[in-house]
Amino acid sequence: MMHLLVTGGAGFIGSNFTHHAILRSGHDVTVLDALTYAGNRESLAGLSEDRLRFVQGDITDTALVDELVRQADAVVHFAAESHNDNSLADPRPFLEANVVGTFVLLEAVRRHDVRFHHVSTDEVYGDLELDGHVRFTEETAYNPSSPYSATKAGSDMLVRAWIRSFGVQATISNCSNNYGPFQHVEKFIPRQITNVLCGIRPKLYGAGTNVRDWIHAEDHSAAVLTVLEKGRIGETYLIGADGERDNKSVVELILTLMGQAADAYDHVLDRPGHDLRYAIDATKLRTELGWEPRFADFEDGLAATIDWYRDHRDWWYPAKAATEAFYAKQGQ
Ligand code: NAD
Ligand code: DAU
Repeated sequence: MMHLLVTGGAGFIGSNFTHHAILRSGHDVTVLDALTYAGNRESLAGLSEDRLRFVQGDITDTALVDELVRQADAVVHFAAESHNDNSLADPRPFLEANVVGTFVLLEAVRRHDVRFHHVSTDEVYGDLELDGHVRFTEETAYNPSSPYSATKAGSDMLVRAWIRSFGVQATISNCSNNYGPFQHVEKFIPRQITNVLCGIRPKLYGAGTNVRDWIHAEDHSAAVLTVLEKGRIGETYLIGADGERDNKSVVELILTLMGQAADAYDHVLDRPGHDLRYAIDATKLRTELGWEPRFADFEDGLAATIDWYRDHRDWWYPAKAATEAFYAKQGQ
């Protein structure tokens, strides 16, 4: 059992991981989260205060981070500005949170010799050809496209430099697109589900041929715990569950599962610089550490996610109007 400092633990994946770490693996957790527009304290509801301490604060706050890292056995770093469309509208917060925030954490784990796991994204590798069979591996060269993915790539490079130059005890994981309960309504799948629930037609960027490699957040959390507990220091592990689908098929599936006509959606302006395809080869994680995804059936996972949004309007509804106002301004 460890005492984990989980940054970004009130966000989509960080809150899922916190439940996982406490309830399945028996760790105690301190969450450090700034509660930006993307953080929600309710996502941690139900966890006992004996096992979970919540600290509202910023990962760029050197004194606060130093104190919390000093008390931890390991840090699992999820906190980030995470949405590509926001990074295109206003990149600066991405530099602060993703680059400076990671730097502040690295300096603290260096000072206190604390184990560090950095949660990153497959987007650092750029994109793949639409029709190809090539997938990302740990050896793929970095080639980020958006301000978001460039800042995540920058944060990965900082972690690698701190491992090599200062001997920091760190691992990195790069995961593909997550879905599941508690995801902010700005993201693709929850946006379309909540659109249907609000009587708005789903919105598909461009032709909708772009491909994403979907994984359930539960499987991501289990993989991060596996890397934290069994991963080799200094190594990078890709996380993915062989879930490639094009966006158009996903919208059509959502509509069908929600009892609507499969073509009841609108095409809207494409995202500038829109990455074509992501695909993960997770062989290293599977063979070296024995991790396997449990949510193998995307359609079942999506149906359960739709049920969750139908049953948890109180959680997502307050963010819906502002999110749609932002998209309307972008023509999306
Ligand atoms: P999210 O936007 O849902 O949550 C981010 C959390 O970080 C929020 O609770 C927010 O309040 C907090 N935060 C932001 N800036 C902060 C700061 N300066 N100090 C403290 N807290 C701050 O994001 P998510 O989708 O849960 O992603 C979590 C991590 O996983 C990110 O690092 C992201 O790059 C990575 N990731 C996400 C996906 C995905 O599909 N969502 C896939 C791969 C990797
Ligand atoms: O690959 C991992 C990344 O996945 C994470 O690092 C990011 O934090 C996470 O946000 C996600 O990035 P994407 O840009 O792939 O996710 P998003 O949900 O924004 O969009 C998924 C796809 O759907 C993408 O091709 C754009 C498209 N899209 C998105 C929205 C919001 C639409 O067609 N319509 C929409 O309304």
